[in-house]
Amino acid sequence: MSPTLESIACRPLAAPFYIGPLLIDPPILQAPMAGFTNFAFRQIVREYGGAGLLATEMVNARGFVWLDEQEAEHPDRLWGVAEEPRPLAVQIWDNEPATLAKVGARLAGEYAVSVVDINFGCPVRQVTQKAHSGSYLLKHPERMGDIIEQVVAACAPTPVTAKIRLGCTRESINACEIAQVVEGAGAAALTVHGRTAADMFRGSADWDGIAEIKSHLHKIPLIGNGDLDSAQKVVDAFQRYGVDGVMIARASLSKPWLFAQAAAAIRGEPIPPDPTLAEEKQLMLHHYELVCERFGDERGTMLMRKFACCYAQGRHGAREFRKHVGTVVTPQEFNQVVESFFPVG
Ligand SMILES: Cc1cc2nc3c(=O)[nH]c(=O)nc-3n(C[C@H](O)[C@H](O)[C@H](O)COP(=O)(O)O)c2cc1C
Repeated sequence: MSPTLESIACRPLAAPFYIGPLLIDPPILQAPMAGFTNFAFRQIVREYGGAGLLATEMVNARGFVWLDEQEAEHPDRLWGVAEEPRPLAVQIWDNEPATLAKVGARLAGEYAVSVVDINFGCPVRQVTQKAHSGSYLLKHPERMGDIIEQVVAACAPTPVTAKIRLGCTRESINACEIAQVVEGAGAAALTVHGRTAADMFRGSADWDGIAEIKSHLHKIPLIGNGDLDSAQKVVDAFQRYGVDGVMIARASLSKPWLFAQAAAAIRGEPIPPDPTLAEEKQLMLHHYELVCERFGDERGTMLMRKFACCYAQGRHGAREFRKHVGTVVTPQEFNQVVESFFPVG
């Protein structure tokens, strides 16, 4: 039986670890999430603390190069990256080693990011079938090796990491083989989401599958990811599965304070309480302000709809709030819906 949080008396359960020269402390990472982990969201996570490394949404390397050639502005997904505090990882995706290397070099040099992460896990058709990238590459370990080698060479001394799933399908799980390729090609860490691409988000993450990979890595840390939605689950992940770090994605959208709670738990310290609903409402309005500052009122309001739904998630009245906030267009409408429908108890 794993220890409960109450039974852990001020004894750190998980040590900080290194990604190349970078100390990850606490060993809890904020996952890249397309459409969500933009500068505003990362700012909120930073304000609560507890994440040892934050990450952007995935950025398409080919698109980045194209914008460069047009002398256009860099992708929206790099909003805030240049000025933001570190550590920060930028995740890139594509299947062309040279293109990824070119963009990696720009991010490591001009943007001075802390880590360049390569996406080998995205299961979305547009990325896999149309662009032969993301999790599609799990079927092509040699290509993955080429990509990583070239990106590592282009980014040095900035560390390069890889994020994968267990395999393409349950019948073709090959994460242990892939782990050796990733390490052999010079990556500085491996993150594994414990599902296959075919699973999408169905079923539970297979943490035994993640744990199995550990003995195939000799030099680089293993970061486990999947279904961590409480401080206790983070404690369990470290205790039961021997990972060096953990990564949290979906649960942080409705609880950006979860990193701080998990960090306290692994230090054996009292867990900070969830914010009250009034505090959560203020937090959401702060998030809204950050989004509108960047995108203007109209686009900011549209973009904020999905974040607002996340904040209300799991609360009494969330469905009614979602229904109304899903249609707002102006700041007046947004504020009115928040005042009338944001859950109060
Ligand atoms: C809306 C959404 C967007 C995502 N975008 C990315 C992405 O850009 N890059 C990536 O590597 N994984 C992405 N993921 C996968 C997550 O990083 C993570 O691996 C997955 O959600 C499992 O972790 P969780 O159970 O903590 O959510 C995304 C997941 C969601 C739900």
